[in-house]
Amino acid sequence: MIKLQISAKWNQNTESLIIPIAVSKNIFKNIEPLSNFSAKNLQNTFKAQKGEIQILPTEKQTIFLLGLGDTPFEAKSIIKIFRSLTHRQKGKLSNKIGLYLNHLKAPEQVIEYALNGLILGSYKIGHYKTTRQEAHPFEAKSASLKIYAKSNSRTLRKLAQKGISTAETQMSIFGLVNAPSNKKVPAVLGQWAIDSGKKYGYKVEVWEKAKIEKKGLHALLAVNRGSECPPRFIIMEYKGKGAKQKVGLVGKGVTFDTGGISMKRPTNMHMMKSDMGGAAAVLGTMELAAKLQLPIHLIGIVPSTDNSVDALAIKPGDVIDSYSGQTIEVIDTDAEGRLILSDGIAYMLRHFKPDTLIDLATLTGSAVRTFGYHAGALFSNNDKLAAALSKAGDTTGERVWRLPVWDVYKDEMKSDIADIKNFSGRPMAGAITAAIFLQNFIEDHPNWAHLDIAGVAFNDADFSMQKSATAFGIRLLVNYLENLVKK
Ligand code: BES
Ligand code: ZN
Ligand code: ZN
Repeated sequence: MIKLQISAKWNQNTESLIIPIAVSKNIFKNIEPLSNFSAKNLQNTFKAQKGEIQILPTEKQTIFLLGLGDTPFEAKSIIKIFRSLTHRQKGKLSNKIGLYLNHLKAPEQVIEYALNGLILGSYKIGHYKTTRQEAHPFEAKSASLKIYAKSNSRTLRKLAQKGISTAETQMSIFGLVNAPSNKKVPAVLGQWAIDSGKKYGYKVEVWEKAKIEKKGLHALLAVNRGSECPPRFIIMEYKGKGAKQKVGLVGKGVTFDTGGISMKRPTNMHMMKSDMGGAAAVLGTMELAAKLQLPIHLIGIVPSTDNSVDALAIKPGDVIDSYSGQTIEVIDTDAEGRLILSDGIAYMLRHFKPDTLIDLATLTGSAVRTFGYHAGALFSNNDKLAAALSKAGDTTGERVWRLPVWDVYKDEMKSDIADIKNFSGRPMAGAITAAIFLQNFIEDHPNWAHLDIAGVAFNDADFSMQKSATAFGIRLLVNYLENLVKK
């Protein structure tokens, strides 16, 4: 972990000094480390545009001018600018970093996101490479970060530390989501939760197959029938000091989705290792909430299995049982996420009775086709909750946009022979009808939201060749929880 220091007075003890600069009339004004440079000369080659980098070697240190673009800043863009810097320039950065903010009027507006990006830039995706990879300077034991800023350093330190803590959890989650299915069976998700719970002091229970059978989580077991690996049901509980609100999070933990007997086409199937993106958001939020010691009572549930093909696998048309007691006609075995979520949701409601229930899942291709990679689909039966989640999404740059769960869609999911079916059978309104399916299991809970994050959990990344994990949802949910407890 990188050592953090904050001081108001700038000195020349850091080997790499980062100076973020926003577009303004006189962009080099009041920047002490640049006093030996002619502003006029600098101006010819550096305009402070978004992501622009200029490297200035001086005798004692290397200065990195970093363009922030126009104000007001957006979280997403600040994170990306800093992440690009430490990712792309890792060969030129030393492990003694300085971040000069003395010239900024309101450093508290950028510091959390700056540090978040700065640390995220050190993530190395080559987990399974056998060739030696160049170490990132931040990995060094002696790595240190000195922030120069004039305002209240206690607030700044807290924000900076939060940016770092968030990045550390996100990077751990990147590793989990980017892991292939042969290295990431349901038990691996369970072990991640156990380790995290031990480290950050929250309760974790991981049920194995026998217990899952005993408890009657039939829909989870049905999806698991085609799998070589036994399922897991992960229950996490964190109770912060002074907690008044109980929030329940349920995340889809499909470690690989072949589609089952209704098999997917092969072209992009390898990406279905990321079909536990909802689980990743829940795991990461549990960890970060505990780390930040938020005064909230948080329950996380992750039903986990892969969706594979075998003689025992469920077939289209099969009718299965579920924890809720409702029977489900499985029209399409590729609509497996909603099946396991229905058990997770029903269990959450009966055993924990949360004030607020939020589920997250990489649930439908329809959500990807609707929003592309730029927003998750939000569904809710509560306007206040929907507004709070939207706001948290806007603040953190993990955007969500609301779609309806109107009753008129209910007919689409009616089954002739069972209580409900898992797919309308028609190629329309896929994300909405999936939400309608889930709504059937919330037992009239008045404060429920469903986030379909299929398009945003695993994404065209600026920091990898192929698509890779985004850890979407962690910053959104933690921000939502912080606002909730502020009231
Ligand atoms: N895991 C997929 C959804 C998905 C698609 C996630 C693309 C990420 C990227 C889900 O289990 C699925 O297969 N959904 C089907 C449902 C359909 C058969 C009703 C879909 O959306 O096509
Ligand atoms: Zn599927
Ligand atoms: Zn799936």
